[in-house]
Amino acid sequence: MEITYNLQKEFKAIFNTTVQPRMFFAPGRINLIGEHTDYNGGHVFPASISYGTFALAAKRNDRKLRFYSMNFSEIGIIEADLSDLTYKEGDNWANYPKGVLLYMKETGYDISQGLDILYYGNIPNGAGLSSSASIELATSVLLNNLFNLRMDRIPMIQLGQKVENQYIGVNSGIMDQFAIGMGKENHAILLNCETLDYEYAPLVLDDHVISIINTNKQRTLAGSKYNERRSQCEQALHELQEELSIKTLGELSPEEFEQNKHLIKDEVNQRRAKHAVYENARTLEALEHLQNGNLAEFGELINQSHVSLRDDYEVSCLELDTIVQTAWEQESVIGARMTGAGFGGCAIAIVEKDKIEEFKKSVNDIYREKVGYDATFYIASIADGAKEIN
Ligand code: GLA
Repeated sequence: MEITYNLQKEFKAIFNTTVQPRMFFAPGRINLIGEHTDYNGGHVFPASISYGTFALAAKRNDRKLRFYSMNFSEIGIIEADLSDLTYKEGDNWANYPKGVLLYMKETGYDISQGLDILYYGNIPNGAGLSSSASIELATSVLLNNLFNLRMDRIPMIQLGQKVENQYIGVNSGIMDQFAIGMGKENHAILLNCETLDYEYAPLVLDDHVISIINTNKQRTLAGSKYNERRSQCEQALHELQEELSIKTLGELSPEEFEQNKHLIKDEVNQRRAKHAVYENARTLEALEHLQNGNLAEFGELINQSHVSLRDDYEVSCLELDTIVQTAWEQESVIGARMTGAGFGGCAIAIVEKDKIEEFKKSVNDIYREKVGYDATFYIASIADGAKEIN
């Protein structure tokens, strides 16, 4: 692969070394359906994509850490030391790998030599395709392989979530790290986020492809209303628990929710909980439709998911709504919705393969007219989870 050769050259030039680094890749992810359900004990249905993060790494003979990202070349090399892995504002994006290193060491894994690591991501940052979880998993896998840690995948995934929650301060669920750690070519993963039971579903879309449409509107999870949504759901759950013995919103069927929703005092919190419950039910139904080849019904659930995220959960925005609404108006589209946390980032649409150019043009013309700049279109190929490449 041309790209890997160039990355190796870059590694040697940046770190001024002749050492041959080992190479790793962690994908990004899309989520087909099951949005904002992971931290509510529900199901999600994500898939890892062929865009992601390359990481090239070599051990050093001292305890120094040198991180470099080709995506933030203006920042240059960020240096740290194994004996001080505390979060530092000035360390910018390198806090992600530092967090991974810190928690691995705290877990008891023996990492006593420093490293040079170069990252290159071909997923746009802040596009809602999980570039941060991709960096975390690329880092865990490289540490695991370079130091022969024999760490299982699930603990690696959980460690990535812990970095987000405790080190970075975003109260996110397990979906992104799971999708990136466990991804499988041409398959989506139906995951129960409470038990971590999962199954792979072949992503058979007949003559259709999944288009990823980037609004090019930047958003950061930490700065967004993500944590607020999470606490609204917790409040709703708390009030339901006064009469129901449930641990999560994911345990409720839509019927049970309707019978008990009066327990949630605040109207806004009631709508947040409604989304979580109905979205979970839609996700399970979507799996069945996909398995039975009912693509039209599958697409309809994807559309309903967007409506619910827009109206009840209120995490969409003008940019996402414009893309999704225009996509719905195309005959070639069987379903479209925002994907990921929302507030910007990306939408996905399932589009007839032969009509993809027409689709892009129609959506982008309207988008540019309404928003003032272009959207970017990618075709998602569903690829394997994080691994070493050679
Ligand atoms: C972000 C979080 C995930 C999940 C989604 C919304 O991607 O990292 O844990 O909550 O938002 O479904």
